[in-house]
Amino acid sequence: MKIKLLSVLILAFVLFGCESSGSSGTQRASAGNQAPNHFNTPLKTVYQDYFPIGNIVNNNYLRGDFFEILKTHFSVVTSENNMKPDHLGPRERGGNYNFAPADNQIRIMAENGIRMHGHTLIWHSQTHRWMTEGTPEQVRENLVNHINTVMAHFKGRVTSWDVVNEAVRERVNPGENYELWRNHLRQESGWFKALGADYIDLAFRTARAADPAVTLYYNDYNLDNSRKAQVVANMVREINARYRSEGNTRNLIEGVGMQAHYGLTTSVPNVRASIERFIALGIEVSISELDVEVRSVGSGSFGIGHSRRLSDMEQRQQAIKYAELFSLFKQYKDHIARVTLWGIDDEHSWKSLGNPCLWDARLQPKQAFFAVANPTEALGIDENH
Ligand code: G3I
Repeated sequence: MKIKLLSVLILAFVLFGCESSGSSGTQRASAGNQAPNHFNTPLKTVYQDYFPIGNIVNNNYLRGDFFEILKTHFSVVTSENNMKPDHLGPRERGGNYNFAPADNQIRIMAENGIRMHGHTLIWHSQTHRWMTEGTPEQVRENLVNHINTVMAHFKGRVTSWDVVNEAVRERVNPGENYELWRNHLRQESGWFKALGADYIDLAFRTARAADPAVTLYYNDYNLDNSRKAQVVANMVREINARYRSEGNTRNLIEGVGMQAHYGLTTSVPNVRASIERFIALGIEVSISELDVEVRSVGSGSFGIGHSRRLSDMEQRQQAIKYAELFSLFKQYKDHIARVTLWGIDDEHSWKSLGNPCLWDARLQPKQAFFAVANPTEALGIDENH
């Protein structure tokens, strides 16, 4: 099996020249005059019978080769930063919202048939401090006003929203009671400090009222960890049960976004178990921010501009992990609403040190790209058996 994988990847390597390069020192990567032959394999076409394939959009991706890749391969995008509270909302109470960059991104995407997922309304991070300061009544009003303002502005142009992002602590310790989900929320969140755990329910109810046409998501990372997944599942179950007990026929939290910032040691069986856990709640799952780093990047080392040349072995290991993941996702196509990658090229990734993307710094497709384009072949699986 491994030998077959090796030969497939070597063939791709030879045919498409997918060698990874390190940082060229320029911020603007370019494919130059090299034939972009991977464009013959649009990922959105490969996966059209499974789920929409997405990526992020930022202002850098609106031009040139980035844009070509975006519109060729992806059918849905998430704004990397421009729809976050600190980018949209005023620096001070009462100030003006700045919708222009996000509006521009949505317009260009719509012109190219690309749909928009909204990210994100309520988060402990990238949020102006004034929003969570003051009396509980003031903070509550801020939360409601922000959601109403933003969702009204984007109404009809955004199909789903991450209403609450990363409310649960990064790590959930073993041996604790995961049913008591409130005990596992981030204590440092300004929203939690002011409003307690109720801010989550409030945010979702406000979002539902603001735009009933939109699918509402809870989005978080480390959800391949069964302890954290249990906490999130218990939270979703309780909030939805209460909402339904009031006579509502629809769930309040309709989807969980598994961010999926993964690495070579990520356990695919653990990812499967979490997908099944969320599906069992009767909600949809989206893989919302997928990337696979080839080496672990400490949280102090996040940032663009540090990609490097990968060895062939690193490329292959990364390709196998991507292939395993997409092979898994395909098995859950009836429940996975979207698979979104977090970045096009290694050099401009938030985790550039980990080279986690499908394209390298020169915008050449990596072995990982070809593994995603054909995971069964990459893994040497005979689909007839
Ligand atoms: O644009 C400024 C630039 O002018 C300045 O010189 C530079 C100096 O640090 O910073 C630049 O802004 C950075 C911005 O990314 C654009 O690159 C910010 O510092 C940096 O904090 C910001 O990081 C973003 C990060 O969220 C912030 O939390 C990443 O782009 C973005 O990919 C990342 O996305 C998050 C998701 O929203 C939620 N899940 C995790 C994911 C990865 O952290």
